[in-house]
Parts: sequence; structure tokens; C-alpha cells
Amino acid sequence: MAHFEYIDNNLCVNGHSLNDMAKAHGTPTYVYSAPRIIENYNALSTALNTALPDHDVLLCYATKANSHIAIVNLLAQQGSGADVVSGGELYRALKSGITPDKIVFSGVGKTEDEIKLAIEKKILQINVESLPELDRINQIAQDMNATANIGIRINPDVEAGEHDKTSTGRKDDKFGIDYDHGLAAYQHANSLSHLNITGVSVHIGSQIVEAKPFELAYQKLAAFIKTLAQNGIDLANIDLGGGMGITYTRETPLDPNAYAAVVKKTIGQFNAKLIFEPGRALTGDAGVLLARVQYVKTTPSGKNFVILDTGMGDLMRPALYGSIHPVLPCIQHGDDVRPPSTYDVVGPICESSDIFDKNVTGPSLHPGDAVAITVSGAYGMSMASNYNTRPQPMEILVNHDHLTVISTRKNFDQLIEHETIPEWIA
Ligand code: LLP
Repeated sequence: MAHFEYIDNNLCVNGHSLNDMAKAHGTPTYVYSAPRIIENYNALSTALNTALPDHDVLLCYATKANSHIAIVNLLAQQGSGADVVSGGELYRALKSGITPDKIVFSGVGKTEDEIKLAIEKKILQINVESLPELDRINQIAQDMNATANIGIRINPDVEAGEHDKTSTGRKDDKFGIDYDHGLAAYQHANSLSHLNITGVSVHIGSQIVEAKPFELAYQKLAAFIKTLAQNGIDLANIDLGGGMGITYTRETPLDPNAYAAVVKKTIGQFNAKLIFEPGRALTGDAGVLLARVQYVKTTPSGKNFVILDTGMGDLMRPALYGSIHPVLPCIQHGDDVRPPSTYDVVGPICESSDIFDKNVTGPSLHPGDAVAITVSGAYGMSMASNYNTRPQPMEILVNHDHLTVISTRKNFDQLIEHETIPEWIA
């Protein structure tokens, strides 16, 4: 069903008017649809379980996409685990009701404290990204008189991702252990006394809309797993990472069944638990960033700027990756009332890159109009900052019956309360 739709010219989320929310709660505000998140989870889970009926399939939501404890809790209730990349995310996942046996921990720079926490909580698997990290985990586990469950993240040297900045599986990316050195890394891990080798992982990038990169990476991984088996190393878990793309504007991503078919073809032969780390695919299209037009400014040459009360501090993706998040008016007027015009949608931040979209032709927007910046449920709030000392957006979660404020906007006092002026500044 449509979760975001115009009802009587009023853009609604599961029947709740965004214009009313903007009036009642102010802007900028992220609004998420719980039913859409559940639908996304079920679509992927059903596709994988249907294609791979004899496998134990575990979705570990990549909490970095949107780590709000209500969102993670909602997914926990659907059966999801978590992929975390920091001690903070591990803490959030546990607080949100995800049990340690469903948590995997990736990331190239895990600190001693983070590794200790992961070992102490006995999480399902630490995905190790370098040889020094292997040694460090072994040493920490030994000091704790414990054993750490580890998988090695293999870098398969595959091009993927919408953007250079979101590709992670090429030879010279910082992620994982080089494919050709993978066997030696496992043999080294095998020689260490306090490591329990539980699996392998691969994650090649983000916003991947085609089958090919997944297929190439998983084929290489399959060959690697066979080599490991020939060397006496058997794995309980195969972690295939995340990266499944979604539609922002005109992309047509792989549907969950097509993705599941790729997994079945390449990895279905192995008798292991299959772990997936979707982030964006679960929450991306379930959220919008609600904002209000402050000014419409026209230059002498006739260029129009629609200036919003939200910018790159609240939603960084357009400035960082040049990504487009279509902007929709919360109230739709007919072309006769609001003839189309062409404009750039920009934020208030003092940076030229603070632009949401350029040369948009759409219904003309007026000061005071509420707008929704769409497909902002993933990597929106989780990447927000207070740049320009602007309070970050508040957040609302809706389902059909409820509309709940799940985080509040900080006031100026709260923004500076952790700062001090040294007494020696006289
Ligand atoms: N697993 C690992 C190890 C990852 O590094 C990531 C994302 C994921 C899973 C989830 O990827 P997803 O399914 O969401 O594509 N900030 C960027 C995306 C960076 C993703 C980093 N890692 C953006 O806004 O597009």
C-alpha cells in the first residue's frame, strides 16, 4: 500500500497530514512510517527465506542508516538482528532489545574498549578488517580469559555503489582483508588461541541497484569459502553485507526476489547461517524530512532560490554525494493556482554545497509552505550535525493509529551545556 500519498491534496504518512505535523511540531522534523519499515523488512526476509528454505537466514539491520532506538526496537520485534560499527551502536542495539546472538560488529578501527564490550556481550561475530585487528582481538580475549567469535571481512575487489564515496569493496579501499591474502589471514587466526572462527563477511558498497556487483562479489566469496574448506576451515556464518539500493528518483533497484535469486545461485550451495546487513533498504523510503520555505529569492538574471529552514546539517547526502531527494509540497495546489516554475531548493547553511536540488521544475513554492524532502529515512538523522549551531530535527514515528514524537529538538542551552569557558581566559 502507499504509505506516503496525497489525500485531498494533503500529503499524508499512513493517513496523518504532514502539513498538520509541521504546524503542530514545527520544522525541521523527520517523520518515519513504521508500517513501511515493517513492509521493507518483510519483503526482504520473505524473499530470502523463500529462495533459501533450508537455510537459517538472519537480517542484521545496519543501524548506521538510522539508529534511533525506536526504529531499531521496531526491527528487533520483527526478528531483526543488528550490524553495528561502534561501541555506541552496539549499546543502542542492546538497549533496543536486540540480543547479542544477533549482533555483528564491522568497522576498520575498533578500539580496545569496543572490542572488550563485544567480547563481554558474546556477540554473534566480530567482523575483522585487518591482521593487526586479529592479533589485538586475540590479545584482549586472552586478557579477559574469554574467546572471541570472529569472521574475517574479505575485500573481493569489486566495483560497486552509486558513488565513489560509498564503494567499499575495491582493492585499495580501506575495508576488509585483501582477497588474495584471505587464506593466510584465516590460517593466522586459526593459530591464535583465543579466537573462535565463526564466519566470513563481505560488503562491497551502498545503493547498489544492479545484480552484477553482488553476483561478482558472491561468486568470488564462494570460491574463497571452498578454498577455506579445502584447508580444513569450516564456517558457521556467511555474512553477505548490505548495499541493496532503493529508488530516490528514477533508479530501478533489484527487487528483493531478484536479490535473493543471486544469493541462492552463488551461495545457496553452502550449509551455513546466511547473514545480511541491509540499512537503506529497510528505512530509506520510510522517512521524510519536513521543512518550511522561508524565502523565495530571485536573482537579477531570473534564477529562483527556494530557501528552506533545513540544510546539509540535517540531511547531508546531497552535499556529500550529490544525491537527489525529491522535494514535495505538503499541500498540493492546481497548476492554475500555483503555475509551475523552475528553482533551486537550498538550505540556510553558509556553504555553497548546501543545495538539495538544482533546476527543479515543479509547482511554485511560497514562503510559509511546508515541504517534504523525500526518501530521507536512511543516512538522514544518523548523519546530522549541529553545524552553524542549528538544533537537529526532532523525529516523529507514525503508524496507522499513532503519531509519536520519538525525539525532541534541543534548545540553545542544551546545545552548549557540555561546553566550558576555561577560567584562565580573563
Ligand atoms: N554493512 C556494512 C559493513 C556497511 O559498511 C554498510 C554501510 C552497510 C552494511 C549498510 O549499507 P546499506 O544497506 O545501507 O547500503 N552514508 C552513505 C552510505 C554509507 C554506507 C556505509 N556503510 C549514504 O548516505 O548513502
